Amino acid sequence: MDHQPTLPPHILLFPLPLQGHVNSMLKLAELLCLQDLHVTMLVSDYCHSRLLRHGNIQSGSLLHPAICFKTILDGLPEDHPRVGERVLEVMPPDVTGPLFRELMTSTDFLGSETRRPVTCIIADGILKFAGDFALEKGIPLIYFHTISASSYWASFCIFQLIEADEIPLKGNGMDSPVTSVPGMEGLLRRRDLPSFFRANDINDPHIQLTKTGIRKDLLAHAVIKNTFDDLEGPVLSQMRTHFPNIYSIGPLHAHRRTRLGAETMSTTSGSFWGDDRKCLTWLDSQPSKSVIYVSFGSITIMTREQHMEFWYGLVNSGQRFLWVIRPDFIAAGEDGESQIPGELEEATRERGYMVDWAPQEEVLAHPSIGGFLTHSGWNSTLESITAGVPMICWPYFADQMVNSRLVSEVWKLGLDMKDTCDRVMIEKMVRDVMEMRKELFQERANQMAKKAKRAVSEDGSSYCNLNRLIQDIKSMIV
Ligand code: UDX
Repeated sequence: MDHQPTLPPHILLFPLPLQGHVNSMLKLAELLCLQDLHVTMLVSDYCHSRLLRHGNIQSGSLLHPAICFKTILDGLPEDHPRVGERVLEVMPPDVTGPLFRELMTSTDFLGSETRRPVTCIIADGILKFAGDFALEKGIPLIYFHTISASSYWASFCIFQLIEADEIPLKGNGMDSPVTSVPGMEGLLRRRDLPSFFRANDINDPHIQLTKTGIRKDLLAHAVIKNTFDDLEGPVLSQMRTHFPNIYSIGPLHAHRRTRLGAETMSTTSGSFWGDDRKCLTWLDSQPSKSVIYVSFGSITIMTREQHMEFWYGLVNSGQRFLWVIRPDFIAAGEDGESQIPGELEEATRERGYMVDWAPQEEVLAHPSIGGFLTHSGWNSTLESITAGVPMICWPYFADQMVNSRLVSEVWKLGLDMKDTCDRVMIEKMVRDVMEMRKELFQERANQMAKKAKRAVSEDGSSYCNLNRLIQDIKSMIV
């Protein structure tokens, strides 16, 4: 079909259908539409129903009707928990690969009088079957790994790590230094590598999957990173020796705000759960920087015992706390209604507030927040950095292990509590960040927040890189 030459490029955005991945891709979708590009966002049916129920994608708050949503099955039964490490079962390639191919060759994507066929595919770096399809059909392919550049780079160096016998770990010294990730020598211990590398067998499926995935990344036209040069410049330089075309355009949530205006901070939510906005009213009545915000993202689960350790640690710290406890947060089988100790209930009534899900960007921007006890998910880490909030990191899995090490040892914005879950240590770290070294961490956090805001301001590094990406996409139209 001959298409009007004036029709804009049509980009397919395809995130892994998990909260953290969808959040950043949704922000990218809006930024692309601001430049009059047409965007189709492909999400799973499960994820779409959550967004319709709790996000507000339907209300037109996405400022451009040029975004349209299409759905695909995620290959899991409706009652699959989609939480904890079982999220790794989502989008099994042998099931969803054929579904994707069928969808992409259906009339939905053949183009029309008002919309070109897809001229560029921006696929989640995990969804290699989408990349394979793009390469086979000659559609320009961009991979968007929604994790930090540092976490990605540590995974990319898997071949050197195996060569140097630094993985698989086989239970070897978790505190042994890692020497085969260029640019991160003297920083990473084995325990700081992505958790998938904690396998004892070289034939571990995750290790094998990473090896094949890395090779395929190199075939893409370009790579997008949700980060900024002042935060991860040295690692981005290392990556550029293999990926000449990297677009570091983050923090995306802040970049979106800069280009769309601050008032839209809360209007477009890509949340899978309903925000409990009453916590903002509770925060309004707390002194400045007196509350530690506690949230472990959308995937982390805890045992009842771990939950108790954190609860006692927070209460014994004497600090005020706002804690997100998702309905699926306590590991299945552990959530029997055990009696909650009276001292915890009383202290929580006095100094704490608990919600199922919070408007996190607004919470972190609230003047009463003085610290963030986080699992070091990359979106949460960037949101905390942008808001100038110091962190205590308790990584759960995957890329979070690298992020927490960077927060404590490179950016020095907080403390890394990796592989520990003990009420005494929790109390100690909370007191350290909220009392003893409050001014020190706050000053550093303020400095990095300025750099984050500068990156996404006009003429900032991320601002210019996004303009370059958009020009690149526009030049793809034959
Ligand atoms: C997952 C991985 O865990 C993470 O490491 C990877 O970088 C992205 O995919 P997730 O665990 O959900 O992400 O963590 P994170 O990346 O922090 O994303 C969570 C998102 O949910 C953030 O944007 C945060 O603002 C939002 N959130 C979280 C809320 O809006 N309300 C909440 O109560 C908690």
